[in-house]
Amino acid sequence: MTDFKRYLITAALPYANGPIHIGHLAGCYLPADIYVRYQRAKKTDIKFICGTDEHGVAITIKAMKEGITPREVVDKYYPMIRDSFDQMGISFDIFSRTSKPVHHETARAFFKKLYDDGQFEERETEQFYDTEKKLFLADRYIIGTCPVCGNKNAYGDQCENCGSSLSPDELIDPRSALSDSKPVKKKTTHWFFSLQKFEPWLKEWINSKKDIWKNNVYGQCKSWLDNGLQSRSMTRDGEWGIKVPLPNAEGKVLYVWFDAPIGYISATKELLPDDWETYWKSEDTRLIHFIGKDNIVFHCIIFPAMLKAHGGFVLADNVPANEFLNIESDKVSTSRNWAVWVHEYLKDFPGQQDVLRYVLCANMPENKDNDFTWKDFQDRNNNELVAILGNFVNRTMVLMHKLTSGKVPFFHPELSDEKDKAIVTSLQENKRKIENALDNFHFRDALSALMDVAREGNKYMQERAPWLLSKTPEMLAAHQKEIDNCIHVCLQLTANLAIMSNPFLPFTARKICHMLKVVDRMLDWENAGSMHLVKPGYSLRPPELLFPKVDDVQVKAQIEKLEAGAANRKTQQRASNEKTDVSAEPVSKATGVGGHSRPLDSLIEDLKPALSDLKPEIEFDDFSKLDLRVGKIIAAEKVEKADKLLKLTIDIGLEKRTVVSGIAQHYKPEEIIGKYVTLVANLKPRKMRGIESNGMILMAENAGKLVFVSALNEISPGSTVR
Ligand code: 2FM
Ligand code: ZN
Repeated sequence: MTDFKRYLITAALPYANGPIHIGHLAGCYLPADIYVRYQRAKKTDIKFICGTDEHGVAITIKAMKEGITPREVVDKYYPMIRDSFDQMGISFDIFSRTSKPVHHETARAFFKKLYDDGQFEERETEQFYDTEKKLFLADRYIIGTCPVCGNKNAYGDQCENCGSSLSPDELIDPRSALSDSKPVKKKTTHWFFSLQKFEPWLKEWINSKKDIWKNNVYGQCKSWLDNGLQSRSMTRDGEWGIKVPLPNAEGKVLYVWFDAPIGYISATKELLPDDWETYWKSEDTRLIHFIGKDNIVFHCIIFPAMLKAHGGFVLADNVPANEFLNIESDKVSTSRNWAVWVHEYLKDFPGQQDVLRYVLCANMPENKDNDFTWKDFQDRNNNELVAILGNFVNRTMVLMHKLTSGKVPFFHPELSDEKDKAIVTSLQENKRKIENALDNFHFRDALSALMDVAREGNKYMQERAPWLLSKTPEMLAAHQKEIDNCIHVCLQLTANLAIMSNPFLPFTARKICHMLKVVDRMLDWENAGSMHLVKPGYSLRPPELLFPKVDDVQVKAQIEKLEAGAANRKTQQRASNEKTDVSAEPVSKATGVGGHSRPLDSLIEDLKPALSDLKPEIEFDDFSKLDLRVGKIIAAEKVEKADKLLKLTIDIGLEKRTVVSGIAQHYKPEEIIGKYVTLVANLKPRKMRGIESNGMILMAENAGKLVFVSALNEISPGSTVR
């Protein structure tokens, strides 16, 4: 067993021919990110590599469908894909593109080395050619009747009805998927990589992984090897792609599956121009490819054989491929628009990235295909994230503000009992479970152990029930030490939840750190299991809502959207099939707003005076940082030697705040007692005339007069304003 010094993690390069959907996340990018975040927290030297796969037929076909060039296709989708990953917290060290010069150079040099070493055989073959579209057809783009089950729409590489692997020659009545015409056979020359030369070595290598790799991965490799390997053409006819680096290769490009995995190497080069070889060429690098199951053969057989043929590179230590995620019991299909698009989720559920991360991890298709449903999304959010994790953290913080004056209480060891010991033991057990599960790529088990930490916390708090010990001020005084102990323990558990949830729910982990006023360094994994993370005597911030509930209306809207998208797609396909032979894209969004006939310019003109004063646009995230609360002014007095300032005492439910406000020239202290206000409750405290002001009240300016911004009805102090 090698003692690895550094980790190199790759996630499959998505084709830049469309946005990404949640199936992509669950299959490959989320497990990779969880693993990387966990390793980073353990201080492992690790690099996380990805980028877009920008060559190949998938891109060319998309360009034909959209009536644009392949370059325009990849330039359109690259930023969309990059931003979706980024906003979901998928923390690549680099997200590159295979259209970059560094990649073209690397892939060509790789091909040339194999060519010079005699690894290719130049062969003339006959291939199906679409005379209407003037294209050689990739196997996928030839459709015909399956010789095994009779399915009329089997693809040239596979029948999706019976699962048989096919070659286009086996199809009965083949036709072009692009023009529906009958393809003809045409001669062409290509360079074939002699995969069979590597068969004995591959058998041995794959066999050595038998007990290490996941069964689904090992099983697929074994069956490929048992069926015998054949030479594979590593070049294609076409213009879009990496030119074959040989003199007699006009109009030939590298096969996309030859260049794409080399993309991992070129992206590492781009990231670490001086050090990439340390990662790719040292025996003590642990290379792990995260992929979906459709990519297994390329990552476990073909790419390793390419690397072996080239020489000098490390090979994958593991390839923890996932199966597929279905949606509402149906296969994801981008052509039918049966998908939940990540960029749309981000718009529909702003600030709720961790909810999706959680639900996808809980349903991760680790060993078999799994299902995503919106109802399950709602249930897991409301019954698990809100009711277990959010509830524990929230109760802890609220009780601390209420019963230990907003400060971390001291622990009184003389009052400690078995329950305190038991909770620490269970915390440490769950920590080990998470480690063990993550080390073995069992993400669902790891997540479930994380939730057990919160479950145990809730149980501990319920048993201690500090609220029963503090019903009257006298009771509170009599039981203060027991209450302190309970809250102290719950706060340490909260800090542990931040550390342990960080790989899975990074946004939540940071929110908890903010509430606890600890720096992100606390999230280092070595701190997990400690009961000394938040320091007694420190005052903490008010609780922040971690997970809002998902209601039935939201769920219904998402299901309707999914169904409408698919139906829309069908209608368009029908319409477009009448006009053209290439299926169309979804209708562009309506731009009108309810039939206004006034020209847009004149509407904008009307808005101008109001718009001119507006501050620049902000992200929703910026807005959601504000903790706005309803407060009630319970005392007010003038600040000495300051004409404009009043010192206010504001009740915000959990506590009373002192706020210094510049309203003295508009209101007398006595006339504002009892007024309801809106308070920015998480504004950093600042001193004004020697008084610490803890927040700011919102005022609207009306013709020079300041007016309180408050709700029309009386609302309990402390209520959130959203
Ligand atoms: O299946 C896919 O989406 C491919 N674009 C994955 C490529 S992975 C790697 F080899 F680059
Ligand atoms: Zn079939």
